[in-house]
Amino acid sequence: MAISLNHTIVLTKDKWAAANFLADMVESEAKAFGPFVRVLTGETDIEFQNIEDNVANDRIPTTHLAFLMSEDELDVVLEKLKRHGVQPYQDMFYDEPGVNNLYGGRGCYIHDPVDGHQWEFITAPYSGKPAHQEKGGWKDFVDPTAVDA
Ligand SMILES: [Fe+2]
Repeated sequence: MAISLNHTIVLTKDKWAAANFLADMVESEAKAFGPFVRVLTGETDIEFQNIEDNVANDRIPTTHLAFLMSEDELDVVLEKLKRHGVQPYQDMFYDEPGVNNLYGGRGCYIHDPVDGHQWEFITAPYSGKPAHQEKGGWKDFVDPTAVDA
């Protein structure tokens, strides 16, 4: 059996608002699950928990989650982002508005409007070097042991 991510907990200021926003983006549903609100994406549950219910933290650290989808599904997400008034960015540092073509597909990053978590929507999984690696930006963050494409 391949090891896969089953679920993760994301801290939030408002678990229903955060879960409903993500559920809308990824064509899923937000459902109560104990102290959490759960959104199933593929086979992975994203479980939102209100920050006040998590005694180990007094602030919300940024969580980064990337969702792989088809080109048509990304078009739908981009329309929804427009409706929500959320700007997509080409890069994870929010320098360039728009959609990137880093790995042979399209992708974008957003601040989720509830907590500022970073959701990434991609149509091709990461492989090899991103197209913009040589331009600088986040080249220092790229794994130097990675095999070139
Ligand atoms: Fe990513």
